[in-house]
Amino acid sequence: MPHGGVEERRSVAMAVTDIRAAQRTTSDGRRWTLRAARPTDARALAGLFADVRAEGRWLVTLPTALSEPSEAFFIGEMVRTAGNLVLVAEADGEVVGNVLIGVERNQVSDHIGTLSVCVRHGWRDVGLGSAILRASLDWARDRGLQKVALSVFPDNERAIAVYERLGFVREGLRRRQYRGPHGTFRDELLMGWFSEVRP
Ligand SMILES: CC(C)(COP(=O)(O)OP(=O)(O)OC[C@H]1O[C@@H](n2cnc3c(N)ncnc32)[C@H](O)[C@@H]1OP(=O)(O)O)[C@@H](O)C(=O)NCCC(=O)NCCS
Repeated sequence: MPHGGVEERRSVAMAVTDIRAAQRTTSDGRRWTLRAARPTDARALAGLFADVRAEGRWLVTLPTALSEPSEAFFIGEMVRTAGNLVLVAEADGEVVGNVLIGVERNQVSDHIGTLSVCVRHGWRDVGLGSAILRASLDWARDRGLQKVALSVFPDNERAIAVYERLGFVREGLRRRQYRGPHGTFRDELLMGWFSEVRP
């Protein structure tokens, strides 16, 4: 049966996962909490994205493309929209990581969520990203999503290693999809995770 049949849509509508706040510890011993985002996190999340963008390597959107207030507005809407997943990793009152899954609204593609993730500089390589991604994929599975899709720059070896360890597979490469600095181009790697396939 093609994706998006009646049974599949019903399972998406019925599945509910309660994301409870959970205390965690990084591999180097720092405490942090994983919890569902609240609308009041929007400004902190916009700040996190701005900081990661300013690193100039990992994200498609240029630092100048969005003002923090307008991004905070859109994030607040995303958090308020039923059906999406927005999780935050918090440590000492600061947002240090985020994973977001936006579920497609189209009747023929509402079996798919699109994922983005970022962890603040200084909190990477200590297991936090893997933990928030794992939680988001558990949510996707419980919610009845068949597929989670993402895209990543092919030179982001750390992110690709983490995605592959969690079961994402490479689906294709869009060549010269984005313009980089000084007349260069950047390819985009498309990856997908399928709920029926366990890593
Ligand atoms: C990608 C990201 C979400 C991963 O989260 P993280 O918390 O750093 O990841 P973890 O600590 O859970 O795991 C990282 C793993 O990658 C490994 N790794 C680090 N650099 C690597 C590299 N160049 N090649 C392969 N593996 C690498 C680490 O050793 C670690 O593996 P281990 O657990 O076996 O030691 C995070 O680094 C990040 O936000 N980066 C900047 C923004 C970004 O790239 N977002 C994704 C855009 S698509």
